[in-house]
Amino acid sequence: MGEAGFDGRIATRVLTAANSGARERPLLYGRRRGRALRPGQLKLIREFLPRVAVSIPASGRIDPRGLFGAGRASIWLDIGFGGGEHLAIQAQTHPQIGLIGCEVFENGIVKLLAHIEHCRLENVRIFMDDARLLIAALPRASIDRVFILFPDPWPKRRHNKRRLVSRDTLDGLAEIMADGAELRLATDDRDYLCWMLEQIINHPDFEWLARRPRDWRERPQDWPSTRYEEKARAAGRAAIFLRARRWSRAPLA
Ligand SMILES: C[S@@+](CC[C@H](N)C(=O)[O-])C[C@H]1O[C@@H](n2cnc3c(N)ncnc32)[C@H](O)[C@@H]1O
Repeated sequence: MGEAGFDGRIATRVLTAANSGARERPLLYGRRRGRALRPGQLKLIREFLPRVAVSIPASGRIDPRGLFGAGRASIWLDIGFGGGEHLAIQAQTHPQIGLIGCEVFENGIVKLLAHIEHCRLENVRIFMDDARLLIAALPRASIDRVFILFPDPWPKRRHNKRRLVSRDTLDGLAEIMADGAELRLATDDRDYLCWMLEQIINHPDFEWLARRPRDWRERPQDWPSTRYEEKARAAGRAAIFLRARRWSRAPLA
C-alpha cells in the first residue's frame, strides 16, 4: 500500500517525494482496510499482486501502454473499482483493451486479484493508491475511457469537498483522456447527481451525451452492474448513469 498514511477512517496528509522535491499528496478520505484478510487472500497480496501492481517511478511519469504486453488497442481506467466486478467483466469482454483499476480499499483489491487470477486475465493492472496520483502521472491524451461508478457521495454539506468528482479531478482527466474519449459516471445519490452534472456541464472539455431520459435511467448494455448498484436497487434507490465525451482538442496553430 505504498507509504499510505491511513488508519481506519482518519485521513492524514503525507509528503511524497516526486519529480522535483517533496510534493503534498491530496487528502484521501475513507477506509483502507476492512475485515482481516484470510490466509488465501494474504497469499494473493504477497505473491500475485506484484505481478499486476502499478507504481509511479522516480521520474513521476507512467507509460500506460508499457504496462501491458504489445497490441493493446486502448487503455481504460476504472477509478474506485470496489470489488472489481465491473472491471473484471470489461477485461474479459475486451481482451484487446488494457484496463487499469485504481482502488485504495485492500479488501476490494484482493477480490479483484482473485478474479484476475481465476479468469487468467492478462489485461488488468492495479494502482493501489489515490487515483489522483495516477492521473497526475499519466501522459496527455493516453486514456480512452474512464469509469467512476458510485463514488462515495459524502452527503453532509461540510463533506462535499471530499467528493472525487470535482473540477480538479475533471481537469486532470481532461488532460489524460484522448480526444473523443468517454467518461462514465454512476450514482444513486440525488444530490451527488446534481453535483456531477454541474461539474460536467460547466467543464469546457466535456460534453454530456444524454439526449433523452432513457439515456441516464437505463444502464447501457456494455456497462456491467456493480455491487453498489445492486445495493442501491435492493434499498429501492434508482441508479443514474452518465456518459460524457471529452471534446476534441483544438489543432495546434
Ligand atoms: C462506494 S464505492 C463504489 C465501488 C464500485 N465502483 C461499485 O460501484 O461497486 C467507492 C470506492 O471508491 C474508492 N475510492 C474513493 N476515493 C478513491 C480515490 N481517490 N482513489 C481510488 N479509489 C478511491 C473507495 O475505496 C471505494 O471502494
